[in-house]
Parts: sequence; structure tokens; C-alpha cells
Amino acid sequence: MAMKDAQPGTIHLRDYEAPRFLIDKTVLRIEIRDDDACVQATLSLRRNPDSQYDGESLELYGQHLTLNSIAIDGCELLAEEYSMTAEDLTINRVPDQFELTSEVVIHPKDNSSLEGLFKSRTMYCTQCEAEGFRRITYYLDRPDVMSEFTTTIIADKALCPVLLSNGNLLDSGDLEGGRHWATWHDPFRKPSYLFAMVAGDLAVVDDSFKTCSNREVDIRLYVEPKDLQKCDHAIQSLKNAMAWDEKVYGREYDLDLYMIVAVDDFNMGAMENKGLNIFNTSCVLAHPETTTDDAFKRVEGVVAHEYFHNWSGNRVTCRDWFQLSLKEGFTVFRDSEFSADMGSQTVKRVEDVNLLRTVQFSEDSGPTAHPVQPSSYMEISNFYTVTIYEKGAEVVRMIHTLLGPELFRQGSDLYFARHDGHAVTIEDFVAAMAEVSGRDFSQFMNWYRQSGTPRLSVSSEYDAEKQRYSLHFNQGVGDGCSPYHIPVKLGLVSDRGDLPFSSSGETNQIIEITQPTQTVSFEGIAERPVPSLLRGFSAPIKLDYAYSLDELGFLMSNDSDGFNRWNAGQQLSIQLMQGLMVDYRKGKALALDPRLKDAFTKVLIEPASDQAMQALVLTLPSEILLAELSEVIDVEAIHHVRQFMCRELGSALADDWLRIYQANQPQGGYRHNAEEVARRSLKNLALRYLMNAGADNSLEFVESQFSQADNMTDRLSALTSLVNDPREAAKDLAEAALASFYQDWSHEPLVLNQWFQVQSACKLPNGLDRVVRLMEHQAFDIHNPNKVRSVVGVFCNSNPINFHCDNGSGYQFLAENVLQLDKFNPQIAARLLIPLTKWRRFEGARSEAMHKQLSHVLASPGLSRDTYEIASKSL
Ligand code: BES
Ligand code: ZN
Repeated sequence: MAMKDAQPGTIHLRDYEAPRFLIDKTVLRIEIRDDDACVQATLSLRRNPDSQYDGESLELYGQHLTLNSIAIDGCELLAEEYSMTAEDLTINRVPDQFELTSEVVIHPKDNSSLEGLFKSRTMYCTQCEAEGFRRITYYLDRPDVMSEFTTTIIADKALCPVLLSNGNLLDSGDLEGGRHWATWHDPFRKPSYLFAMVAGDLAVVDDSFKTCSNREVDIRLYVEPKDLQKCDHAIQSLKNAMAWDEKVYGREYDLDLYMIVAVDDFNMGAMENKGLNIFNTSCVLAHPETTTDDAFKRVEGVVAHEYFHNWSGNRVTCRDWFQLSLKEGFTVFRDSEFSADMGSQTVKRVEDVNLLRTVQFSEDSGPTAHPVQPSSYMEISNFYTVTIYEKGAEVVRMIHTLLGPELFRQGSDLYFARHDGHAVTIEDFVAAMAEVSGRDFSQFMNWYRQSGTPRLSVSSEYDAEKQRYSLHFNQGVGDGCSPYHIPVKLGLVSDRGDLPFSSSGETNQIIEITQPTQTVSFEGIAERPVPSLLRGFSAPIKLDYAYSLDELGFLMSNDSDGFNRWNAGQQLSIQLMQGLMVDYRKGKALALDPRLKDAFTKVLIEPASDQAMQALVLTLPSEILLAELSEVIDVEAIHHVRQFMCRELGSALADDWLRIYQANQPQGGYRHNAEEVARRSLKNLALRYLMNAGADNSLEFVESQFSQADNMTDRLSALTSLVNDPREAAKDLAEAALASFYQDWSHEPLVLNQWFQVQSACKLPNGLDRVVRLMEHQAFDIHNPNKVRSVVGVFCNSNPINFHCDNGSGYQFLAENVLQLDKFNPQIAARLLIPLTKWRRFEGARSEAMHKQLSHVLASPGLSRDTYEIASKSL
């Protein structure tokens, strides 16, 4: 018998076998009772004609189920006709085609893992991806088994007046004893991971969307009654996404009803269940008084993402979980293009690349590194990673870059047409792109099959006599690694702007690097240009080119590519900070290089045309990014050097910051639009610099902004500045502000998450004490993933100087919390453990202390498969 605590096995892509049986129809009857739920399933099964299997037995997945009865074609099975383990049920002998009925009992109220059917506050809801459906009934719970679902829900009418499932409502009615029922039917065949049901006392906001073929789609957003005022932004975002997918991808919505339900306890951000998305409240609710501008953007992006899955994921789904990036990578690419179109292309690109360079590059160089198409896993929940998502999206973006928008659209049309209603592979996606373009993608597949971030070293050579400019490319191909097919978008920049390429007359060119070393020459180049390489970050790589500080300053003001202007500024700051880190370690006095001040001044006096970009350019690279770039991470040096730079830039440019701060005060009432969001971001950045510099008036500004703000962005920004201010005079102000903020918002869980985050991220000394106290606070709830992420997650991932404090107490704190969480929510526990897995990157004492805590976790009895996989792979 398979034991829960047995050492987990590994599943390999190479072992894929077509399903032995198919389930044409799935009829569920789910009765929610006071203490449990009873699930009856009627499955129309038959042998899969495409399977080689000719044995007689049938194996179904099932976990935490209590079986009441099981029958084939109405004939109850005897105990000796089947057997069970903790993870499956095997029927010894089945006919070629038959109806299987089963009845099981499950316990939603005790289900703290938030997989399967569980209770979140007052409502019942489900989360089935990736393998949660097997906690609801015995089933072929794998994505290549697609079935037509009919679901009846029965519950108490007073407690659960709203009963929802996928598709369309067929019928509903009342029962004795104050109970009622509803039957839903989903006409689209789907894998079980897309099943959903909800039962609860929910309020609803109704709207509608007219599709390109003039069909009226009903939109319903279900929330707790207290949240009815926070629905407009999600609904508008959904309608924008529906229109965008019609325009850009020719994709129309297919059902007459689109429902979203907001729940408080959720492991992820949101889930794309067919016709019935379930969202973490943090990714759907928004109102200016309670929601920051960043959270507004997040809502727009997540709503669009789950909507886009209706085609990239639901209509065309994954054959197996090794193909996860087929739906996630493609859909992240789609949602990021959507967000770029709704706002600023360059800003969105900078945000995405920042995430990739900090989190994904770090994953890709650590013990949990894996290819975009992994070849094995123990627990699939551990593979919802930045590599699958963000790198996967970058790989799709490169295909888009290589093909251009028209051919890419043809490829996507072919992919959707050819595979509609099927469960397919990443190879099928690429084959469609290859077919429409006639291009060979065999080398390109290395992006899917190899892990690690490629490095591309570039050097240049100019022959003035021949007017020839050459670039030498060298991809350092590690052992066992094959060279990548890398699209490098480039331009040549001179004093008079971009030089046209004589071959095309254009100022941009895409060079395709395929060889370990490769040289590209350009003729008719009248002067030595500065190369603008990897424009728009055209490939997810680490690019090395020995730019001088002056060249970086030049690109910062002269590159025609907005992304590379920003990037040049970042590289300039990074080079200078790395130099200062050397000085810091030698105990030398630090000094700000005047070139950075000059570069900042140039940006500060620019006309206020693109304030969002201005704010990004004026933001120094994060401590996390500097850590990622370090051979050996020196937490203190990074922290002190970056703080030093912020302080110096604050005081050296104090007059400019003050001018910016004052010029961007709100005019009239609050508005949520791109221009106002940009003004707020620049204004709040200026305030941070004034505070960093300890400017005389800064405490007054921040105090008055905190108390007078009419929106959460300004209020929270002021609170963050106050809480992080080391001045003695700021201490009482910060305490008072935190207390009044709590008073004002204690009834809003999402605002309290922000309140927790500000304090967990506070960089002042004694961070661990603060975090331990926060966890004892009455508003903290370790069963709510948003709270755990806001306190423990933020502390361990975004507060390096405190998490890595010398005595190792931060590591012990994390290990203890992981072990506690692992007992009831393994997905969250495993994810939380990630910071400890990076122990190899730190110097002696820290590294050892981290290693010790990670070993302690691994040695603990009864570990979940999730946490076991992460810990064992990292030691
Ligand atoms: N399919 C996922 C949600 C999911 C993943 C549920 C793993 C259960 C297990 C969904 O489409 C998704 O990717 N959501 C993201 C947000 C998105 C904008 C990238 C999330 O939940 O973080
Ligand atoms: Zn997704």
C-alpha cells in the first residue's frame, strides 16, 4: 500500500502513456451537509482506442475519500473486486464500456490544504488544478481525459442561497427541510482540473459583453456583500480583455455566461475554471480607498490572464503536466501584451524584465532549476514556477519576435483550429508556428528543454577605413548544453541618433545567434557607434558587453529604444554600486560618482511627458537584483551601499526632488488613469528620496500626505516611508500612523495585508521581533495564505537585511513556520521554503546556518511530498 509518508516517487515525461480509458460523460451530485459532503459520481467509461493497454483492470485516482459504495452498470462491487491505497482505487476487472457509479464522503470544513472542495469563511468552493479533483471523487484525474460535466449541488438554502458550477444553469428547485438544488451543464468537454463549484451566501454584480458575432454574454462577479463596491475595475478589465482577444487573436468567448467568484482563502492568485473562475480576493477586488495603483494593475492582469485561458488552456489544453507552460507561458505572454496595450509598452516590459532577472534568473541558477518543459517531477504543485510562467512567456515572445506579428497570428490561428477540444504538447504549439513560417525550430527547442540562463558575451570592432562595424558574439555553452537560437534585436547609436543599417535602411535589426561563436558585420558605418544590444530584452539571457560608464550614460539619454534607455541606467547604477561594495568591504569611505548624479539630473529635468518611465529610470536596482548578480552574496554590503546611494542621491538632488514632489501633487479629486498613476509614482519616489536624505521638511510632508491622502497609493506610500525612517523623530510618528491605520482599516482584510507587509518589509533593525509580534496579532491567521505571504513571505523574500541577520534566527523562524504549515497546507509550506534553498549563494556562516535549517526541515517526520521535494533537491 502506498503510504502518505513514504518517500515520494518521481514521474517522468518519457513514461507518458495515453489514458487507458476515457470518460465521455461525468454526472456529479454533490450534497453539502452540516459536517461533510456526499459526492455521487456517474461516469460513462470506455476503453481508449488509442491505448495499447489490453489488461482488464481500471485504476482511478482518489485521496482523502471515504467510499460508501461503488458499482458497475448498476451492480455493486464486492470487497474482493477492488482494492484501495491512500492514492488510488483499482477495480480488478471492467468491461470495454460501462457506467461507473460511486458514492464518497468528504470533509470540506476540515480541508485546510485549500485543494479539492474546501470552505473559505462562509462559502464552499473548489480548487482542482493540478490534482485536486481526486479529493472530490475517484476519477481519471489527468488533463488528457476530457469529459462533458453535469453537476447537481444540494445545500441548505439559507446558508448557501447561491449554487454555482461550470457552464449553464439547467434547472433548480427547492427541497424539504430548507434545502435546495441546482443543476449545471457544461457543453464543452474539459479535463477535471477545470471543474469548479461554489456554494454560499454571495452578492453579485451583473454586466454583459457583446461579442464580435453579436452574442450577448452575461458577466457575473460574485463577492461577499461587503465587497460589492469593489467590483467595477475587475468587470471593466474583463470586458477589455474580451475585446482585446477578439481583436488581437480573433478569439471569441464561447459560453453565454462568464462567472467570477472572489474568495479569501486561496493558495494562488486565481483559477481559470471553465465559465466559473475562482479568484483570490486580492486579485479581483479594487477600490481607490483600499487598493494601491499596483494592485489595480495586478487585478487587470490576472482577470485578463484567466480570461485568456479560455482559449489557451481550456479549449486547447495540456496533454500532461510537463506541458504546463503550454498554457501558462503562452497565457502570460498574452496577458502581458494586453497590459502593455492598456498602459505603456515600455513600463510593462521593464516590470516583467525586473521580475525575470530577480526571481527567475535566481531560480534558474539554483537547486530547483528546471527547463520550461521539465522532464520529471515529484509533486506538480511545485512546478508553478517563474520558469514555467515567466521564462515560458519569454520563449513565446521570442517566437513572436522571430516570426513578426502577422505570421505569429497565423500560427496561433492554426494551433487553435487544429487542436480545439484536445489535450496537446508544447511541440504541437511550436509545430504550428513552424508550419506557417516555414522556419526550422529544432534548435529553438533547446529553450524548452534546457535549464539555466544563457550568457552572451559581445565585443565590437570598428574599421574606420572600411567603414565596417563588427560584433562578435559568444554564448558560453556549458558542458552537456547545446547552443541556443537567440534573437538579438539591435541598433547602432551615434551622436546624431540611430544609424540606419545599409542592408535595410531600418534602424533596428534582429540578429539570430545560433553558433557558439558568431560574428556579424555591418557595412557603410561612417563612425564608431555605441551598440544598443538586446533591445526590448529580445531574449531572456545575461548579456555581457564591456560598456564604459560614459557609454552607458550616453545610451541613457540617446538610445531610441525606451527599454534600453532604462536598462543603461540600471547597468550604470549596478557598476557603480558593485564598485562601492568593494570599498565598503575594505572599510573605505564611500563616495557617489558624479556621473550618476549627472545622469539623474538629466532625467529629472526632462519635460514631464512620460512620468511612469521617469520614475522607473530614477529607481535604483533592488537589493534582490544586486544579490542575484553577486558571485557570493554579501547582504550587508548590498544593503549599506544601496542605502548610501539613495541617501546621497536624495541630498545631492534635494531641490529637484522637492520640485517634483510639489509639481505632482494631486489636482482635483482622485482619478485612476495612466497619467495620474504615473504622477503618483513619480511624486512618491521623490518623497522617498527626500526622506532618505533626511530633508528638513520631509517628516511634515509625509505626515500630511499620510493623513490627508484620498487614496491608498498615497497613504501607503507615506506609511512605508515613515516606518522605514531611521530618525529618532520618526519613531513615534510611525507608531501613531500604524495604529491609526489599523483602527481605520481593521474591517478590510486586504488593507490589513498591506499593513502587515509594510511592517514585515521594514528595513530597520530587529525585524524578526516585529514579525514574530505580527504573527501574534489578532488579525493574523496562519490558515489564510494571503496573511502568511504578507508576513512570513515578505519578511523572508523582501527583507534580506533582517531575514539574514547574523545569528541565523531568521532561518530558524522560517524552518519552524514551514514545518507548522506543512501539516495543513503543503503547497504554501513548500513555496515558503524557497529562500532557504539558496544557501549555496552565501558566505560561510550564513550558508551553514541556512543549510542547517534546511536539513532540519528535511529530517522532520511526516513531511508532505511538496516540501520533501523542495528540501531534498536543495541539499
Ligand atoms: N492556472 C493558474 C492557477 C493555479 C495554478 C491554480 C496552480 C492551482 C495551481 C492560473 O491561471 C494562474 O496562472 N494564476 C496566476 C496568476 C497569473 C496572472 C499568472 C496565479 O495564481 O498566481
Ligand atoms: Zn494561468
